[in-house]
Amino acid sequence: MRTFPFGKGAILGALIVGLLVTAACAGPAGPAGPKGDAGPPGPAGKTPTTAELKALIAEALRGAPATVASIARGGRLYDHWTEEAKVAVPAGNQPLWATQTTNTRTGDDTWRCKECHGWDYKGVGGAYGSGSHKTGFVGVYDAGTSKSQEQLLGILSGSTNARHDFSKVLDGQSLTDLANFLSQSLINETPYIDYATKKPIGGNATKGKTLFDATCVACHGADGKTLNFGDAAAPEYLGTTATDNPWETINKIRFGQPGKSMPSGAVNGWSMQDVVDVLTYAQTLPTK
Ligand code: HEC
Ligand code: HEC
Repeated sequence: MRTFPFGKGAILGALIVGLLVTAACAGPAGPAGPKGDAGPPGPAGKTPTTAELKALIAEALRGAPATVASIARGGRLYDHWTEEAKVAVPAGNQPLWATQTTNTRTGDDTWRCKECHGWDYKGVGGAYGSGSHKTGFVGVYDAGTSKSQEQLLGILSGSTNARHDFSKVLDGQSLTDLANFLSQSLINETPYIDYATKKPIGGNATKGKTLFDATCVACHGADGKTLNFGDAAAPEYLGTTATDNPWETINKIRFGQPGKSMPSGAVNGWSMQDVVDVLTYAQTLPTK
Protein backbone atom coordinates (compact mmCIF):
# COMPACT_ATOMS: atom_id res chain seq x y z
CA MET A 1 0.00 0.00 0.00
CA ARG A 2 1.34 3.40 -0.93
CA THR A 3 1.50 6.29 1.50
CA PHE A 4 1.76 9.96 0.75
CA PRO A 5 5.15 11.56 1.33
CA PHE A 6 3.95 14.58 3.25
CA GLY A 7 7.54 15.61 3.88
CA LYS A 8 8.34 16.73 0.35
CA GLY A 9 4.93 18.39 -0.12
CA ALA A 10 5.27 20.35 3.09
CA ILE A 11 8.76 21.57 2.19
CA LEU A 12 7.59 22.51 -1.29
CA GLY A 13 4.53 24.30 0.15
CA ALA A 14 6.79 26.34 2.40
CA LEU A 15 9.05 27.17 -0.55
CA ILE A 16 6.09 28.27 -2.69
CA VAL A 17 4.79 30.45 0.15
CA GLY A 18 8.30 31.86 0.42
CA LEU A 19 8.29 32.63 -3.31
CA LEU A 20 4.89 34.32 -3.07
CA VAL A 21 6.05 36.41 -0.11
CA THR A 22 9.14 37.42 -2.05
CA ALA A 23 6.99 38.32 -5.03
CA ALA A 24 4.65 40.33 -2.79
CA CYS A 25 7.63 42.38 -1.57
CA ALA A 26 8.15 43.66 -5.09
CA GLY A 27 4.68 45.29 -5.17
CA PRO A 28 3.55 48.59 -3.64
CA ALA A 29 3.75 48.70 0.13
CA GLY A 30 0.48 47.97 1.98
CA PRO A 31 -0.75 49.73 5.12
CA ALA A 32 1.35 49.09 8.19
CA GLY A 33 0.01 46.31 10.43
CA PRO A 34 -0.03 46.24 14.24
CA LYS A 35 3.34 45.67 15.79
CA GLY A 36 3.91 42.09 17.05
CA ASP A 37 6.20 40.78 19.73
CA ALA A 38 9.69 40.27 18.43
CA GLY A 39 10.71 36.59 18.64
CA PRO A 40 14.22 35.25 19.11
CA PRO A 41 16.20 35.37 15.86
CA GLY A 42 16.39 31.97 14.08
CA PRO A 43 19.45 30.52 12.40
CA ALA A 44 20.09 31.92 8.94
CA GLY A 45 18.83 29.46 6.29
CA LYS A 46 20.24 28.79 2.84
CA THR A 47 18.11 30.57 0.25
CA PRO A 48 17.30 28.24 -2.66
CA THR A 49 17.92 29.61 -6.12
CA THR A 50 15.02 30.12 -8.53
CA ALA A 51 16.35 27.23 -10.62
CA GLU A 52 16.30 24.95 -7.58
CA LEU A 53 12.76 26.03 -6.75
CA LYS A 54 11.58 25.39 -10.31
CA ALA A 55 13.20 21.95 -10.31
CA LEU A 56 11.47 21.09 -7.02
CA ILE A 57 8.08 22.25 -8.32
CA ALA A 58 8.52 20.27 -11.56
CA GLU A 59 9.47 17.18 -9.57
CA ALA A 60 6.42 17.55 -7.33
CA LEU A 61 4.07 17.99 -10.29
CA ARG A 62 5.52 14.99 -12.08
CA GLY A 63 6.04 12.67 -9.15
CA ALA A 64 3.06 13.11 -6.82
CA PRO A 65 2.11 9.50 -6.12
CA ALA A 66 -1.47 8.44 -6.79
CA THR A 67 -3.75 8.28 -3.79
CA VAL A 68 -5.60 5.01 -3.16
CA ALA A 69 -8.86 6.92 -3.63
CA SER A 70 -7.80 7.88 -7.16
CA ILE A 71 -6.77 4.31 -8.01
CA ALA A 72 -10.06 2.94 -6.66
CA ARG A 73 -12.07 5.50 -8.63
CA GLY A 74 -10.10 4.43 -11.70
CA GLY A 75 -11.19 0.84 -10.99
CA ARG A 76 -14.83 1.92 -10.86
CA LEU A 77 -14.43 3.98 -14.06
CA TYR A 78 -12.93 0.90 -15.76
CA ASP A 79 -16.05 -1.00 -14.65
CA HIS A 80 -18.62 1.57 -15.85
CA TRP A 81 -17.44 5.13 -16.35
CA THR A 82 -20.79 6.64 -17.38
CA GLU A 83 -22.19 5.54 -13.97
CA GLU A 84 -19.12 6.51 -11.94
CA ALA A 85 -18.52 9.92 -13.58
CA LYS A 86 -22.27 10.47 -13.92
CA VAL A 87 -21.97 11.58 -17.55
CA ALA A 88 -24.39 10.98 -20.41
CA VAL A 89 -23.88 7.81 -22.43
CA PRO A 90 -22.41 8.88 -25.83
CA ALA A 91 -24.64 8.31 -28.85
CA GLY A 92 -24.15 5.11 -30.83
CA ASN A 93 -21.52 2.43 -30.26
CA GLN A 94 -17.88 3.08 -29.34
CA PRO A 95 -16.12 3.56 -32.74
CA LEU A 96 -13.83 0.52 -32.25
CA TRP A 97 -16.89 -1.68 -31.72
CA ALA A 98 -17.41 -1.90 -35.47
CA THR A 99 -14.03 -3.63 -35.83
CA GLN A 100 -15.40 -6.80 -34.18
CA THR A 101 -18.52 -8.93 -34.78
CA THR A 102 -18.50 -11.53 -32.00
CA ASN A 103 -20.01 -9.41 -29.19
CA THR A 104 -23.49 -8.23 -30.23
CA ARG A 105 -24.18 -5.79 -27.41
CA THR A 106 -24.95 -2.16 -28.31
CA GLY A 107 -24.84 1.31 -26.75
CA ASP A 108 -23.60 1.88 -23.18
CA ASP A 109 -22.00 -1.57 -22.85
CA THR A 110 -19.76 -0.88 -25.88
CA TRP A 111 -18.20 2.10 -24.05
CA ARG A 112 -17.24 0.19 -20.89
CA CYS A 113 -13.51 -0.51 -20.60
CA LYS A 114 -14.26 -3.92 -19.07
CA GLU A 115 -16.46 -4.96 -22.01
CA CYS A 116 -13.51 -4.73 -24.42
CA HIS A 117 -10.62 -5.51 -22.06
CA GLY A 118 -12.18 -7.94 -19.55
CA TRP A 119 -12.78 -8.04 -15.79
CA ASP A 120 -9.46 -9.88 -15.49
CA TYR A 121 -7.68 -7.21 -17.60
CA LYS A 122 -6.55 -9.89 -20.08
CA GLY A 123 -8.98 -9.20 -22.94
CA VAL A 124 -8.99 -12.02 -25.48
CA GLY A 125 -6.31 -13.77 -23.43
CA GLY A 126 -8.61 -14.17 -20.42
CA ALA A 127 -12.18 -15.00 -19.38
CA TYR A 128 -13.63 -12.96 -22.28
CA GLY A 129 -11.63 -15.03 -24.76
CA SER A 130 -14.81 -16.98 -25.46
CA GLY A 131 -18.55 -16.61 -24.90
CA SER A 132 -20.93 -13.75 -25.67
CA HIS A 133 -18.55 -11.09 -24.29
CA LYS A 134 -15.74 -12.06 -26.66
CA THR A 135 -14.49 -9.12 -28.73
CA GLY A 136 -11.00 -10.40 -29.56
CA PHE A 137 -9.50 -7.16 -28.24
CA VAL A 138 -6.19 -7.00 -26.40
CA GLY A 139 -6.02 -6.89 -22.60
CA VAL A 140 -4.71 -3.96 -20.56
CA TYR A 141 -2.54 -5.94 -18.16
CA ASP A 142 0.65 -5.76 -20.25
CA ALA A 143 0.28 -2.05 -21.04
CA GLY A 144 -0.71 -1.17 -17.46
CA THR A 145 2.29 -2.93 -15.98
CA SER A 146 4.83 -1.66 -18.52
CA LYS A 147 3.83 1.75 -19.92
CA SER A 148 4.41 5.11 -18.26
CA GLN A 149 1.64 7.32 -16.92
CA GLU A 150 2.14 9.65 -19.91
CA GLN A 151 1.87 6.79 -22.40
CA LEU A 152 -1.29 5.48 -20.72
CA LEU A 153 -2.86 8.95 -20.75
CA GLY A 154 -1.92 9.15 -24.43
CA ILE A 155 -3.59 5.81 -25.24
CA LEU A 156 -6.75 7.00 -23.46
CA SER A 157 -6.64 10.25 -25.46
CA GLY A 158 -6.34 8.60 -28.87
CA SER A 159 -2.59 9.08 -29.47
CA THR A 160 -2.12 5.48 -30.66
CA ASN A 161 -5.54 5.04 -32.24
CA ALA A 162 -7.90 7.96 -32.88
CA ARG A 163 -10.90 5.72 -32.24
CA HIS A 164 -9.63 5.15 -28.70
CA ASP A 165 -10.02 8.81 -27.68
CA PHE A 166 -11.88 9.08 -24.37
CA SER A 167 -10.73 12.66 -23.67
CA LYS A 168 -13.85 14.03 -25.36
CA VAL A 169 -16.15 12.18 -22.97
CA LEU A 170 -14.15 12.05 -19.71
CA ASP A 171 -12.54 14.92 -17.78
CA GLY A 172 -8.83 15.11 -16.96
CA GLN A 173 -9.24 13.83 -13.40
CA SER A 174 -11.07 10.74 -14.65
CA LEU A 175 -8.36 10.00 -17.23
CA THR A 176 -5.72 10.40 -14.52
CA ASP A 177 -7.64 8.07 -12.18
CA LEU A 178 -7.85 5.49 -14.99
CA ALA A 179 -4.12 5.77 -15.71
CA ASN A 180 -3.35 5.44 -11.96
CA PHE A 181 -5.55 2.37 -11.75
CA LEU A 182 -3.92 0.81 -14.82
CA SER A 183 -0.36 1.49 -13.75
CA GLN A 184 -0.65 0.74 -10.04
CA SER A 185 -3.31 -1.82 -9.27
CA LEU A 186 -3.67 -4.37 -12.07
CA ILE A 187 -3.15 -7.91 -10.88
CA ASN A 188 -2.69 -11.17 -12.70
CA GLU A 189 -5.75 -13.14 -11.53
CA THR A 190 -4.53 -16.58 -12.59
CA PRO A 191 -3.03 -17.34 -9.12
CA TYR A 192 -6.31 -16.37 -7.42
CA ILE A 193 -9.01 -17.98 -9.62
CA ASP A 194 -9.18 -21.43 -11.19
CA TYR A 195 -10.38 -20.40 -14.66
CA ALA A 196 -11.95 -23.82 -15.36
CA THR A 197 -14.09 -24.06 -12.20
CA LYS A 198 -14.36 -20.32 -11.34
CA LYS A 199 -13.39 -21.26 -7.75
CA PRO A 200 -11.02 -19.02 -5.77
CA ILE A 201 -7.62 -20.52 -4.99
CA GLY A 202 -6.46 -20.58 -1.36
CA GLY A 203 -9.46 -18.70 0.10
CA ASN A 204 -10.56 -19.05 3.72
CA ALA A 205 -14.38 -18.88 3.98
CA THR A 206 -14.35 -18.48 7.77
CA LYS A 207 -12.14 -15.39 7.60
CA GLY A 208 -14.20 -14.22 4.62
CA LYS A 209 -17.42 -14.46 6.66
CA THR A 210 -15.93 -12.29 9.42
CA LEU A 211 -15.03 -9.58 6.86
CA PHE A 212 -18.36 -10.02 5.07
CA ASP A 213 -20.38 -9.64 8.30
CA ALA A 214 -18.46 -6.47 9.19
CA THR A 215 -18.43 -4.87 5.72
CA CYS A 216 -21.11 -6.21 3.37
CA VAL A 217 -24.11 -7.36 5.41
CA ALA A 218 -25.35 -3.81 6.10
CA CYS A 219 -26.37 -3.42 2.44
CA HIS A 220 -26.47 -6.94 0.97
CA GLY A 221 -27.94 -8.79 3.99
CA ALA A 222 -26.60 -11.88 5.75
CA ASP A 223 -27.68 -14.09 2.81
CA GLY A 224 -26.63 -11.53 0.15
CA LYS A 225 -30.23 -11.26 -1.05
CA THR A 226 -31.21 -7.78 0.17
CA LEU A 227 -30.06 -6.21 -3.13
CA ASN A 228 -31.33 -7.80 -6.35
CA PHE A 229 -29.20 -6.81 -9.39
CA GLY A 230 -31.61 -8.59 -11.76
CA ASP A 231 -35.38 -8.42 -11.58
CA ALA A 232 -38.16 -10.37 -9.88
CA ALA A 233 -38.36 -12.91 -12.72
CA ALA A 234 -34.60 -13.49 -12.98
CA PRO A 235 -33.08 -12.41 -9.67
CA GLU A 236 -29.33 -11.91 -9.33
CA TYR A 237 -27.85 -11.66 -5.89
CA LEU A 238 -24.37 -11.27 -4.48
CA GLY A 239 -24.08 -15.07 -4.40
CA THR A 240 -25.08 -15.24 -8.08
CA THR A 241 -22.45 -12.74 -9.23
CA ALA A 242 -19.74 -14.21 -7.00
CA THR A 243 -20.36 -17.70 -8.41
CA ASP A 244 -20.87 -16.73 -12.09
CA ASN A 245 -18.17 -14.09 -12.37
CA PRO A 246 -15.43 -14.17 -9.73
CA TRP A 247 -13.29 -11.73 -11.78
CA GLU A 248 -16.03 -9.09 -11.75
CA THR A 249 -16.58 -9.71 -8.04
CA ILE A 250 -12.87 -9.19 -7.31
CA ASN A 251 -12.85 -5.86 -9.17
CA LYS A 252 -15.93 -4.73 -7.25
CA ILE A 253 -14.65 -5.88 -3.83
CA ARG A 254 -11.34 -4.06 -4.46
CA PHE A 255 -12.71 -0.84 -5.89
CA GLY A 256 -16.46 -0.61 -5.13
CA GLN A 257 -19.59 -0.30 -7.25
CA PRO A 258 -19.65 2.59 -9.80
CA GLY A 259 -21.79 5.52 -8.70
CA LYS A 260 -22.77 3.84 -5.41
CA SER A 261 -21.53 4.22 -1.84
CA MET A 262 -20.28 0.62 -1.68
CA PRO A 263 -16.89 0.59 0.13
CA SER A 264 -13.60 -0.22 -1.63
CA GLY A 265 -11.38 -2.94 -0.15
CA ALA A 266 -8.31 -1.16 -1.55
CA VAL A 267 -9.23 2.05 0.25
CA ASN A 268 -9.83 0.03 3.44
CA GLY A 269 -6.35 -1.48 3.18
CA TRP A 270 -7.47 -5.02 2.32
CA SER A 271 -4.88 -7.49 1.05
CA MET A 272 -5.58 -9.78 -1.93
CA GLN A 273 -5.95 -12.58 0.62
CA ASP A 274 -8.79 -10.64 2.30
CA VAL A 275 -10.43 -10.13 -1.11
CA VAL A 276 -10.15 -13.84 -1.99
CA ASP A 277 -11.45 -14.84 1.46
CA VAL A 278 -14.58 -12.68 1.00
CA LEU A 279 -15.07 -14.04 -2.53
CA THR A 280 -14.77 -17.60 -1.18
CA TYR A 281 -17.46 -16.91 1.41
CA ALA A 282 -19.67 -15.04 -1.11
CA GLN A 283 -19.68 -18.15 -3.31
CA THR A 284 -21.39 -20.05 -0.47
CA LEU A 285 -24.37 -17.63 -0.48
CA PRO A 286 -27.64 -18.50 -2.28
CA THR A 287 -27.67 -17.83 -6.02
CA LYS A 288 -31.46 -17.65 -6.35
C1 HEC B 1 -14.83 -0.66 -27.90
C2 HEC B 1 -13.76 -1.37 -27.31
C3 HEC B 1 -12.84 -0.63 -26.35
C4 HEC B 1 -13.20 0.12 -25.26
C5 HEC B 1 -14.57 0.46 -24.75
C6 HEC B 1 -11.97 0.51 -24.63
N1 HEC B 1 -10.90 0.02 -25.34
FE1 HEC B 1 -8.97 0.15 -24.81
N2 HEC B 1 -8.42 -0.69 -26.58
C7 HEC B 1 -9.30 -1.23 -27.50
C8 HEC B 1 -8.54 -1.68 -28.65
C9 HEC B 1 -9.12 -2.32 -29.91
C10 HEC B 1 -7.18 -1.40 -28.38
C11 HEC B 1 -5.98 -1.58 -29.30
C12 HEC B 1 -5.97 -0.28 -30.08
C13 HEC B 1 -4.83 -0.08 -31.01
O1 HEC B 1 -3.77 0.36 -30.54
O2 HEC B 1 -5.01 -0.32 -32.21
C14 HEC B 1 -7.16 -0.81 -27.04
C15 HEC B 1 -6.00 -0.45 -26.37
C16 HEC B 1 -5.96 -0.09 -25.03
C17 HEC B 1 -4.76 0.00 -24.24
C18 HEC B 1 -3.34 -0.32 -24.74
C19 HEC B 1 -3.12 -1.80 -24.80
C20 HEC B 1 -1.77 -2.16 -25.33
O3 HEC B 1 -1.29 -3.27 -25.01
O4 HEC B 1 -1.17 -1.37 -26.05
C21 HEC B 1 -5.13 0.41 -22.99
C22 HEC B 1 -4.23 0.64 -21.79
C23 HEC B 1 -6.56 0.58 -23.01
N3 HEC B 1 -7.03 0.25 -24.25
C24 HEC B 1 -7.32 1.01 -21.93
C25 HEC B 1 -8.68 1.28 -22.00
C26 HEC B 1 -9.46 1.90 -20.95
C27 HEC B 1 -8.94 2.33 -19.60
C28 HEC B 1 -10.74 2.00 -21.41
C29 HEC B 1 -11.94 2.66 -20.76
C30 HEC B 1 -11.88 4.10 -20.63
C31 HEC B 1 -10.76 1.41 -22.74
N4 HEC B 1 -9.50 0.99 -23.06
C32 HEC B 1 -11.90 1.26 -23.48
C33 HEC B 1 -10.65 -1.31 -27.37
C34 HEC B 1 -11.40 -0.68 -26.40
C1 HEC C 1 -23.18 0.92 1.42
C2 HEC C 1 -23.85 -0.21 0.83
C3 HEC C 1 -22.99 -1.35 0.31
C4 HEC C 1 -22.03 -2.09 0.98
C5 HEC C 1 -21.55 -1.90 2.41
C6 HEC C 1 -21.59 -3.09 0.05
N1 HEC C 1 -22.25 -2.97 -1.14
FE1 HEC C 1 -22.04 -4.18 -2.77
N2 HEC C 1 -23.39 -3.04 -3.77
C7 HEC C 1 -24.10 -1.98 -3.25
C8 HEC C 1 -24.99 -1.45 -4.27
C9 HEC C 1 -25.96 -0.28 -4.07
C10 HEC C 1 -24.80 -2.23 -5.42
C11 HEC C 1 -25.48 -2.08 -6.78
C12 HEC C 1 -26.86 -2.68 -6.73
C13 HEC C 1 -27.54 -2.61 -8.08
O1 HEC C 1 -26.89 -2.26 -9.06
O2 HEC C 1 -28.74 -2.94 -8.13
C14 HEC C 1 -23.78 -3.22 -5.08
C15 HEC C 1 -23.30 -4.17 -5.95
C16 HEC C 1 -22.41 -5.16 -5.63
C17 HEC C 1 -21.93 -6.16 -6.56
C18 HEC C 1 -22.30 -6.19 -8.04
C19 HEC C 1 -23.23 -7.26 -8.40
C20 HEC C 1 -23.65 -7.18 -9.85
O3 HEC C 1 -23.84 -8.24 -10.43
O4 HEC C 1 -23.78 -6.09 -10.40
C21 HEC C 1 -21.07 -6.96 -5.87
C22 HEC C 1 -20.30 -8.16 -6.42
C23 HEC C 1 -21.01 -6.46 -4.51
N3 HEC C 1 -21.84 -5.38 -4.40
C24 HEC C 1 -20.26 -7.01 -3.50
C25 HEC C 1 -20.11 -6.46 -2.23
C26 HEC C 1 -19.26 -6.99 -1.21
C27 HEC C 1 -18.48 -8.30 -1.32
C28 HEC C 1 -19.33 -6.14 -0.15
C29 HEC C 1 -18.52 -6.18 1.12
C30 HEC C 1 -17.09 -6.20 0.93
C31 HEC C 1 -20.24 -5.07 -0.51
N4 HEC C 1 -20.71 -5.30 -1.76
C32 HEC C 1 -20.59 -4.02 0.33
C33 HEC C 1 -24.00 -1.48 -1.98
C34 HEC C 1 -23.13 -1.93 -1.01
